[in-house]
Amino acid sequence: MPANDTRPLLSIAGLSASYGTPRGPASALAQIDLELGKGENLGLIGESGCGKSTLLKTVMGVMPGNARIDAGHIAFQGRDLVSASPEQRRAVRWAGISMVTQSALNALNPVLRVGDQIAEAILAHRQVSRAEAWRRTQELLAMVGVAPERARDYPHQFSGGMRQRAIIAMALALEPPLVLADEPTTALDVVVQDQIFRSLRELQQRLGFSLLLVTHDLALVIENCERVAVMYAGQIVETGPTRDVIRRPAHPYTLGLKNALPRLGSRDEPIAIPGGPPDLVDPPPGCRFAARCPFALPLCRSEPPQLATVAPGRRARCHRAAEIDALAPLAALPQTWDALREGPG
Ligand SMILES: Nc1ncnc2c1ncn2[C@@H]1O[C@H](COP(=O)(O)OP(=O)(O)OP(=O)(O)O)[C@@H](O)[C@H]1O
Ligand SMILES: [Mg+2]
Repeated sequence: MPANDTRPLLSIAGLSASYGTPRGPASALAQIDLELGKGENLGLIGESGCGKSTLLKTVMGVMPGNARIDAGHIAFQGRDLVSASPEQRRAVRWAGISMVTQSALNALNPVLRVGDQIAEAILAHRQVSRAEAWRRTQELLAMVGVAPERARDYPHQFSGGMRQRAIIAMALALEPPLVLADEPTTALDVVVQDQIFRSLRELQQRLGFSLLLVTHDLALVIENCERVAVMYAGQIVETGPTRDVIRRPAHPYTLGLKNALPRLGSRDEPIAIPGGPPDLVDPPPGCRFAARCPFALPLCRSEPPQLATVAPGRRARCHRAAEIDALAPLAALPQTWDALREGPG
């Protein structure tokens, strides 16, 4: 991409995808709009099952056999990936977009030496000798904080943190402009998690890649991502600069997420959002969050809200986004959510 190219690195527009299930297609992604600039970090948060991994797999082009893209575009460096041929897709995978998966254990082949796996990835995409690929592999391992001589070890000889570092080394092997990371450190203790993110940030300064980070951990997003996207039931419900979104959410679901966190220095108990996500095989006709939203109006149950600009750089999918400042203090009260627990009345 030329240096003066002002297009976003990744631009997802109107993306909808579904999984075939015995009960019919499950709408796992619905009208996803998302942009990621060069060198930018975007956090993707939302409760389990909201579609975070599905979105990453769709961008990476590694969806399972029962998944299909129903609509929309994924433009990477200005080229659409949805309409790309399998060969074009393969060329982008790892060299253009790489992925660090949720489970590092499954991502490494147990019967191959760690170094050989990384070297193979390099040899598959680059015209280099085996010796050069091996030298590069050792360099990559050193970069992520694994002693280069450990390249000859098998995955089971690595600790969990080392395996995760090896996966990151593999993801960076071809210096892709975009790295997708799906809960890259969830299985690790906070100290190791911290070290890994510190090396990721250092590497980012050197290599300049953009990061799309999926995590349950809001603190990780606050520390590492300038922007955040909040997902609910297959949709983006809110996006914006991380600080603004956390400080002043523009969507009731984000308000609920914030309440559900233990608050530092506060004796207030976290408040969980009552209920569960909707059935994706038969999603509600209006807002997907309406059944769990203490502020839902009849309109919310019949008309799906669009992801609309609510302030510069900020978008929210809520009919009541304009009233959010008045609703936010109510969302901080447990009784607001208790009323939902007792059923809509
Ligand atoms: N292969 C599949 N076949 C059918 N449904 C699937 C498949 N994979 C995921 N789903 C469904 O798609 C929805 C989104 O799943 P996904 O794994 O993307 O969620 P997630 O946000 O990554 O959750 P988590 O935080 O638990 O990893 C869920 O309802 C899930 O049950
Ligand atoms: Mg997931």
